[in-house]
Amino acid sequence: TAPAAVIVAIDGPAGTGKSSTSKAVAAKLGLGYLDTGAQYRAITWWMLTNGIDVKDATAVADAAVKPVIVSGTDPSAPTITVDGLDAAGPIRTQEVTSAVSAVSAVPEVRTLITDLQRSIAAEAPNGIVVEGRDIGITVLPDADLKVFLTASPEARAARRSGELKGKEATDLAATREALIKRDAADSGRKTSPLAKADDAVEVDTTELTLEQVIECVVTLIEGAGAEK
Ligand code: DC
Repeated sequence: TAPAAVIVAIDGPAGTGKSSTSKAVAAKLGLGYLDTGAQYRAITWWMLTNGIDVKDATAVADAAVKPVIVSGTDPSAPTITVDGLDAAGPIRTQEVTSAVSAVSAVPEVRTLITDLQRSIAAEAPNGIVVEGRDIGITVLPDADLKVFLTASPEARAARRSGELKGKEATDLAATREALIKRDAADSGRKTSPLAKADDAVEVDTTELTLEQVIECVVTLIEGAGAEK
């Protein structure tokens, strides 16, 4: 018999290894993969390219219904398009990263993106790993397994600047400052802030290799699947 579709929520701040872990776990177990941060980045990119003032919450709320965001959930080749345009590159620029917290704090944006996330999860034939900030609490409160990844600010900054290396000039101190500022905005916003669900398993990745984190989450999913 085919295994039941397993829904996994992985939340945590930036630089904890959410994306690398989620993708690898999904690929290993034959599940879909959804990067919800990429969706917030995509809508932010659309706002910036269409001249919307991202500091103007009313303008952002009014425009939010316009872009059509489509996420491909194959963990070995995740895709994201906005109005049919490939957004994978542009959503990783510093400009988008600096503006995304403001756009993602707008309640109308969150409602639209949350609905999109729920329909993608519901349609995933074998189940899905969904990574973000509010998945366990708001988007998929009935997930079979909720994981909350943490790491020290130093470890997170080091990983993030390692990812950026070669793409954009960064120094560790600046990366650390930007990361802490973004986490504070994401944790402090009124609507659906970054937070650990009461029933989430917290995994501190500071001293772990990526392989160890993947192994840990796979074991947790196998345990959660067996309970179903
Ligand atoms: O995971 P990321 O760094 O690509 O996410 C980009 C931003 O999107 C992050 O600063 C906060 C926002 N976000 C959110 O508000 N809710 C989510 N579920 C995922 C991301």
